Amino acid sequence: MAQEDVFKKIVSHCKEYGFVFPSSDIYDGLGAVYDYGQNGVELKNNIKQYWWQSMVLLHENIVGIDAAIFMHPTTWKASGHVDAFNDPLIDNRDSKKRYRADVLIEDQIAKYEEKINKEVAKAAKKFGDSFDEAKFRETNPRVLENQQKRDALHQRYSDAMNAGDLEALKQIILDEEIVCPISGTHNWTDVRQFNLMFKTEVGSTAEGTSTIYLRPETAQGIFVNYLNVQKTGRMKLPFGIAQIGKAFRNEIVARQFIFRMREFEQMEMQFFVKPGTELEWFEKWKQTRMGWHQALGFGAENYRFHDHEKLAHYANAASDVEFKMPFGFKEVEGIHSRTNFDLGQHAKYSGKKIEYFDPETNESYTPYVIETSIGVDRMFLSVMSHSYCEETLEGGESRVVLKLPPALAPVKLAVMPLVKKDGLPEKAHEIIRDLRFHFNCKYDEKDSIGKRYRRQDAVGTPFCVTVDYDSLKDNTVTLRYRDTMEQKRVRIEELRTLIEDEVSITSLLKKIM
Ligand code: GAP
Repeated sequence: MAQEDVFKKIVSHCKEYGFVFPSSDIYDGLGAVYDYGQNGVELKNNIKQYWWQSMVLLHENIVGIDAAIFMHPTTWKASGHVDAFNDPLIDNRDSKKRYRADVLIEDQIAKYEEKINKEVAKAAKKFGDSFDEAKFRETNPRVLENQQKRDALHQRYSDAMNAGDLEALKQIILDEEIVCPISGTHNWTDVRQFNLMFKTEVGSTAEGTSTIYLRPETAQGIFVNYLNVQKTGRMKLPFGIAQIGKAFRNEIVARQFIFRMREFEQMEMQFFVKPGTELEWFEKWKQTRMGWHQALGFGAENYRFHDHEKLAHYANAASDVEFKMPFGFKEVEGIHSRTNFDLGQHAKYSGKKIEYFDPETNESYTPYVIETSIGVDRMFLSVMSHSYCEETLEGGESRVVLKLPPALAPVKLAVMPLVKKDGLPEKAHEIIRDLRFHFNCKYDEKDSIGKRYRRQDAVGTPFCVTVDYDSLKDNTVTLRYRDTMEQKRVRIEELRTLIEDEVSITSLLKKIM
């Protein structure tokens, strides 16, 4: 199945099974804003718990905070967001649609890559086992021509972006004859910078109001609390502050479902270190974060680092963790060495001394910072993308199963009476009453057992238990495993031991230790 189709199926599966709904769905939705449904919120909470515990529980020197979304407006002047948190936008005069100029060009680069991949796939099919892909890429004239066009465009684009040259971006769009997907015309406006922060006002009277912003990242809530936490927690360097919370960006291009949203959630950790040690910590955090991702068991080949060549003016190293989504390798997390830029800027704008007194060297200095910043929603999408599976079973029947890591699954155990009578529902409820303190259980009595299994497969429930007439006599039930569909007879009092460990966040945490 084409990857594009897989992605469409994941999006509709998310809606059909109560994971993700368009926001305000009855009013036809709101662009790039989504709501999490009854299953989605459980999965999302499990992801957050996995992250939070890996930071705060597993590190003696990391503590958490929960800062407000609204912050003093000077925060964003100091951080540089007021002046520089921009995307280059361009409008098509005919369709009146707005686009990100950089995205239009990146899509054009992807088109060349697609052409090359199509040639390779065609040749691979034709030549079968004897196909030498490397040689084909080096010698085929059509591949070479498209590769040369792609590389030249990439170079021109990088130069224009690095120089912040908006005219050059427009010229590329014209030269490449990129058209508006709606109107099909080249009738473009000039490229302009567009600030991504949402503005609103605090105060109730016209004279007494002031403009404030919805935070575009949670990190600044940590920086402005550095002194509070360091002093009240008597924190010694190196130490970290972790936070999970909402962030808002007025993204121009709203697409790819929950990959790029206007309201989203971040899990960020700022790790304060002694100047001069930051690059060592940067490497350590890269490995630690990759270990966290890979403990989910999605396969090392589906992850890669993308080290940034062009760094933000305040950074001295940066790398993304990319995951193979149905639409290619995409950034899920950023790890940044942000030097002392943020604390230094807040010291300058607030007039407060924001430093650390080092008892070992008897000197004060502004700590350097390593940041790990991951989007909850992107993580959710990567989990969903990897877990969604369509299987053909023996006898030709098919099933859709979400092979979620059990620790992240919304429901851990479904308990089903074989029939809705003769005391079987009561027995099933009794099992749930005992186990619900330990993990999330659901009761399900509607439809045939086969249909109920399929329903649970589709939401990723790792275990199902069927209560039948023998259960009343000998206190045993049939335990069914989601991935293998294996069934075995077990004693009811064994259930907790069989299931609890496998579905706990602790089981994941132990894999990264
Ligand atoms: N404090 C650093 C920072 O915010 P970023 O690379 O802009 O860095 C970090 O964002 C992470 O937040 C990204 O790797 C991504 O997972 C997530 N993210 C950023 N913008 C997003 C958006 N519009 N929708 C969903 N997730 C987003």
